[in-house]
Amino acid sequence: MAYLNAHYLKLKAGYLFPEIARRVKAFAEQHPDVAPRIVRCGIGDVTEPLPPACIAALHKAVDEMARRETFRGYGPEQGYEFLRAAIAENDFRARGLEVADDEVFVSDGSKCDCGNILDILGHQNTVAIPDPVYPVYVDTNVMAGHTGPADESGAYAGLRYLPCTPANQFVPEPPREPVDVIYLCSPNNPTGAVATRAQLQAWVEYALKHQSLILFDAAYEAYIADPALPRSIYEIPGARECAIEFRSFSKNGGFTGVRCAYTVVPKSLLAMDDQGQRRPLHPLWNRRMATKFNGVSYVVQRAAEALYTPEGKAQVRQLIDHYMGNARILREGLQDSGLTVYGGQNAPYLWVKTPAGWNSWQAFDALLQQIQVVVTPGSGFGAQGEGYFRVSSFNSRANAEEAARRFRQMKW
Ligand code: MLT
Repeated sequence: MAYLNAHYLKLKAGYLFPEIARRVKAFAEQHPDVAPRIVRCGIGDVTEPLPPACIAALHKAVDEMARRETFRGYGPEQGYEFLRAAIAENDFRARGLEVADDEVFVSDGSKCDCGNILDILGHQNTVAIPDPVYPVYVDTNVMAGHTGPADESGAYAGLRYLPCTPANQFVPEPPREPVDVIYLCSPNNPTGAVATRAQLQAWVEYALKHQSLILFDAAYEAYIADPALPRSIYEIPGARECAIEFRSFSKNGGFTGVRCAYTVVPKSLLAMDDQGQRRPLHPLWNRRMATKFNGVSYVVQRAAEALYTPEGKAQVRQLIDHYMGNARILREGLQDSGLTVYGGQNAPYLWVKTPAGWNSWQAFDALLQQIQVVVTPGSGFGAQGEGYFRVSSFNSRANAEEAARRFRQMKW
């Protein structure tokens, strides 16, 4: 008899984005006349082509793979040295932050890394998760058996939820009691809020005091335009002793379909073993990668490396400017329709309060039916997301302008 992992049975319905896609497909089938009008501002998926510097690097790497002398088989599971060095140098050391090349682990995505990191953490940890939040943090903890069942609001027993509301500008404060593992995401998905230096400092102080671990998701750091806002947790003194940082090429280089990301695990980061002794996490993550992963393809790592060339950096800038231009256009359309809009200033997501009396899915349905614009219902990100919806600015300029025009026509 084979037993299944019963923790999966606790998961709520489907993963949020497939569920939205299912509802949109059903709508399109029922209304073929308006289906071609649908504008998708739901999932945060890039629309613009890869930067030319990446395309050139991909072509060159493919040609290398075509010749016996330059062909490559398995690469290092942790990433090629050329990419680890480019990352550590450009994203950290050039900004005065201490990160060694071998503290960078190249992977095929931050979503995978955020889930896989649980492999090296103990089951006895109490886990604190902001609410609303990127659903992967919660669902992977459910799958790993770190929670009890969910209640009607979707909150799982055993998790410590940190409410993010207008009262705290959607940035959670450290709780009064100790927790062992804390997820933070800044710039935030879904709210678009960005933690200030003082807010991150409070978290680092808390983590050092309680010997907790911060899992810091910085997948959207490239969208921070305000130089006063921290782009890495390692800008905060002490973070190398309490934080792992996740970064991605998905939203800066447009790699959602190419797949490349990385995780920084400082060698100075310790966690407790069963005998009460503090040991480094770095060798465990290294071991995990070596055992369960065979690395990102050579051609993709060459494409990621090209993002750090002067041309690559300028082209990334253009992509970010494009999406942030969309954010401004969408924000204005939403505000003109009388809605309260948060985020979208140092982040690609707009977090919109539904009109009084409307819940998130009602707003989702009304927007789809009346103006054929797809958004993401806030309640899909957690109980505190109820009464909001998220608008993604990852789109063509024409679609962003069209969505903004239709938001203005919306009758609530
Ligand atoms: C989102 O829409 O929240 C993102 O596309 C999710 C992701 O990056 O996995």
